[in-house]
Amino acid sequence: MQNETKESLNPTFPRSVLSVSRDEFGNKEDNPDVKDLPLKMNVKEGKLPLDLQGHVFIVAPVGSIDSPDAQGNPTNSTIYPSSDGTTPLYNGDGMIYRLDFDNLEAGAFLSSRLVKPPCYYADAATYKCQKYQDLKFKNYGITRISGSLGVRNQLNTAFVPLKFARDESERLLATWDVGRPYEIDPKTLETVTPVGRNDEWKEVTQIGLPGKSQTPFKIIQTSAHPCFDPHRQEMFTVNIGRSISNVCSQLIPIAYIFKEFWEWILHVFHIKERKSVTLPELEEKPLSFSKKLSTIGKSIWKFLRGLLGIFTDNFVYLMRWDGSGSLEKWKVLVENGLSIKIKQSIHQMAVTEDYIVLLDTAFKVSVEELLPTLTNKKYQRFEKFFRNFLDRPQLSDNSFYIIRRSDLNPEKNYVSAKKVTIPGEAAHFLADYKNPGDLITLHLSHVCAWDAAEYLSEFDFDNDKTPNLEANNLRRLYGAIAGPMDISKFGCHVVNGKTGELVKKYQDVIMDENSTWGPAIGTYQNHPLPDRL
Ligand SMILES: [Fe+2]
Repeated sequence: MQNETKESLNPTFPRSVLSVSRDEFGNKEDNPDVKDLPLKMNVKEGKLPLDLQGHVFIVAPVGSIDSPDAQGNPTNSTIYPSSDGTTPLYNGDGMIYRLDFDNLEAGAFLSSRLVKPPCYYADAATYKCQKYQDLKFKNYGITRISGSLGVRNQLNTAFVPLKFARDESERLLATWDVGRPYEIDPKTLETVTPVGRNDEWKEVTQIGLPGKSQTPFKIIQTSAHPCFDPHRQEMFTVNIGRSISNVCSQLIPIAYIFKEFWEWILHVFHIKERKSVTLPELEEKPLSFSKKLSTIGKSIWKFLRGLLGIFTDNFVYLMRWDGSGSLEKWKVLVENGLSIKIKQSIHQMAVTEDYIVLLDTAFKVSVEELLPTLTNKKYQRFEKFFRNFLDRPQLSDNSFYIIRRSDLNPEKNYVSAKKVTIPGEAAHFLADYKNPGDLITLHLSHVCAWDAAEYLSEFDFDNDKTPNLEANNLRRLYGAIAGPMDISKFGCHVVNGKTGELVKKYQDVIMDENSTWGPAIGTYQNHPLPDRL
């Protein structure tokens, strides 16, 4: 590389990562909302090989309906989702891109379409309609919340391809950690339907405040990488519940709960009269005295139940789906008969011939990452102290839970799991499909001191040494996900599924100063799954 070129290169991550377009491209017959035809690939040099075939699917977050453009104005085109300094780039609607290689004589084409579950429309409507302003969604760090409507299901993380016996072609699910997976039409890229009914999924935390009804868009914690077994035509996922004490020790909707609690206090003490906004179809008739009494009774019970749940509401349901209709589900218990307690997340899970493997993944969400942005810069020092006080690292050990598939009895509503601890945190792992002699082989990407839930905010120490950053009006990389902070490891571990014992003689971990910084493991599972990786 010539010295001149080397010097002109930006020593940090390219700043173009901070902006993204929300424009959709496609054919009118596939997507009536689209304004532009699929984009044709501009071949700069050489020719596209004519033996290319198939389609590449990509999903990525593209900010929200209220994300600003470069000048800070709302737009639906090129936006800067993290320009407030505290919203990560991955808080945003999922955009599905498809690159087509099926008509190479004409060229390669790119279509794109936003993932649009019902909460997408609620977000757009409350943002655009003046009369629903009180119901608007706002960013709280990694989540997007409306106090009255609930939490956005942004579906921006991964795909799961499925093909059940009665299906003519492959189907596609879009997934993420906090919401039901949705099926996507691979041709039109339209969001088709969720997996399971709303009432089949339980909220991550249940605390009922008297007078507060449940929001329509529930906080559902699940796996961003559910698994599908094409041999036995079964899809598995999880529904996770966290007690408040568990949540406070590390995780999820604390901002939401604080907000709910604060609004309830304001409401009860009439400190601030909330403008009541009622959707026309939700208007309620006046209640009779007996009904009022019964409603109050139910509210108090819900509240007391919520208080008890502060310590006890930990659960994991393993869910099985056959491609249509209801989900089968089993509460997962450990040997003492208690529900398993997930302290972080089950970002990924795996299926083998005879077992389901769950991992409490190093993808924690601390309270610090759920705080709203304070607009008053006078309190910035206090805010920085408060955020650092609430932040904490991910757990350094992996807790695996192994469930025998033959124990999934449709007559029962629970199943037992064996717990195995493997040192060296991981967020992604794969399992060999075959488990001869009940030995399960797990391949782990040990992401030491690296948590994908951490991102750069204006309250962090920023080591960006780009010359003349301010003078050249260059944006800081706020919102960008952190990279590895230590040498990572690549581990192969064998666990006896019957006994839950880690078979140390087969354990193999490699760590190399030059080669294992942030090893990534493909989260896509080949179809059919390989017997042995
Ligand atoms: Fe992932």
